[in-house]
Amino acid sequence: MKIAVSYLKSKNSLAQTIKEIDQTSADYIHVDLMDGLFVPEKNIDLKNLTTVLKNHQKPLDIHLMVENPLLYIDSLRLLSPDYITFQIEIANVSACINKIKEHQIKVGLALKPSTNITSVLPYLNQIDSILVMSVEPGKGGQQFNESVIPKITELRKLQEKYPFTIHIDGGINEESIKKIPQVDLVVSGSFVCMADNYEKQIERLRCK
Ligand code: DX5
Ligand code: ZN
Repeated sequence: MKIAVSYLKSKNSLAQTIKEIDQTSADYIHVDLMDGLFVPEKNIDLKNLTTVLKNHQKPLDIHLMVENPLLYIDSLRLLSPDYITFQIEIANVSACINKIKEHQIKVGLALKPSTNITSVLPYLNQIDSILVMSVEPGKGGQQFNESVIPKITELRKLQEKYPFTIHIDGGINEESIKKIPQVDLVVSGSFVCMADNYEKQIERLRCK
């Protein structure tokens, strides 16, 4: 199981948080970007992001909570991310998948807690990962929503036929992680970045 750390909610400055994540055994830095339209929160400032991520070491796992990912993909590719994941609830899903693939970046589809698995079925041949959101998109530090667990079980069955990975994001800590079936990657934010010792928290997640 891989671990991606989200820096959205941290007790340290952004620069310090990224530096600390880089010193852990985490597999990815999870970059949450919001446009103030898909969600009320807005933090998408590509110039600032480039500065903040200038010296990062870990591969990037970008999560777009935006209405139109096409506006950002060309700029984001300059950060050479491993993944760009966007929300399935938006209008132009196929165009976004194609655009991300054009740049040889892995494509992920994210589902809000209330979004059904049926919405991803038409795309399973084209994508690399599915991000099951276990909180409403927008904020770090929310409580894990257990009602999404059956989606993971369903996705695990679909993995027998399609080669995507299952990721989960939202409210992951040493307790909630025990409730979920095996996944390929967990995103954890405040559980890691609100603590004094990031690595210790990551080890707690790994011994699930
Ligand atoms: C929620 C974000 C998550 C969030 C995770 O909108 O997509 O990545 O930052 O943070 P925690 O682990 O605190 O829920
Ligand atoms: Zn996220």
